[in-house]
Amino acid sequence: MTSHFRSLLPHGQLGNRLCRYKNYNFLSSYTTAEYIDSLQSFEIRDSDVFLVSYPKSGTIWAQQIITSIYELDGHVNEYFINSQKMPWLEYTGGEYTRRPSPRLFTSHLPQVLMPPGLMDKKGKIVYLMRNPKDNMVSYYHFSNSFADLETPQTSSWFDHVREWYSNRDQYNILFLTYEEMILDLKGSVKKICNFLGKDLTEAAISQVVEKAKFENMKNDSKANYEHLPPEQFSGKFLRKGQIGDWKNTLTVAQSERVDQVLWEKLGDLPLRFIWE
Ligand code: A3P
Repeated sequence: MTSHFRSLLPHGQLGNRLCRYKNYNFLSSYTTAEYIDSLQSFEIRDSDVFLVSYPKSGTIWAQQIITSIYELDGHVNEYFINSQKMPWLEYTGGEYTRRPSPRLFTSHLPQVLMPPGLMDKKGKIVYLMRNPKDNMVSYYHFSNSFADLETPQTSSWFDHVREWYSNRDQYNILFLTYEEMILDLKGSVKKICNFLGKDLTEAAISQVVEKAKFENMKNDSKANYEHLPPEQFSGKFLRKGQIGDWKNTLTVAQSERVDQVLWEKLGDLPLRFIWE
């Protein structure tokens, strides 16, 4: 393993399945370069909520938490599954201008491709991070089960985290980690509620926590992405759901290499990760 993740979606042969915008590859079944470009003039509302992450950081987990919080108000209940309630900003077809506020979005976009309107501290961003070794192992399994992805060849987890974190002052943004969600799910739900200005009762918080537990979410068809056609995705989004699975996969040399790259790329930032 000489390098880890490069572009938003892994580099591979730029065949029909991928379209390219700037340095990034996207699945052409979901979006177009023109649409990604149009996000530069996407109008942000103060009430917009974005969940942003590098793929395999626990995105659908945080998506389940945020949608469950808004469902308590009867919001987004006209949609059935989380990917409709809180759609990916970078995918076409959402007719987002017609959605009532507050609009909920999910995104894997790097900071440079996000709507610049967010930099006026309009809207709220929850940025989710996961330690890069577990993130990599999760991505490895995912790309083996996802027909349109190849095993990532080069690195960009580092760029994604670096760009979002080093530009944090320009955004209304909460940084959250997968590991803190694992270690204290209730505390993480409260933290998210606090950031979103949602004052939930203890009973409502417990309800959100219950729905977000691994086993419950695994069996929740609104949340587990089992709607994806098996010819596209043959694995499970909810695979192991643990901290430290990298120890079962990476060699000592590979692990040390990640430590070294992490130090080189992010060592100057006050970011610390939980590894086990
Ligand atoms: P693993 O592959 O390590 O199991 P994403 O949503 O960004 O694709 O991230 C998927 C990862 O989040 C998977 O990690 C998955 O198991 C984990 N995950 C999803 N829901 C979870 C939950 N409720 N509790 C713990 N981990 C969860």
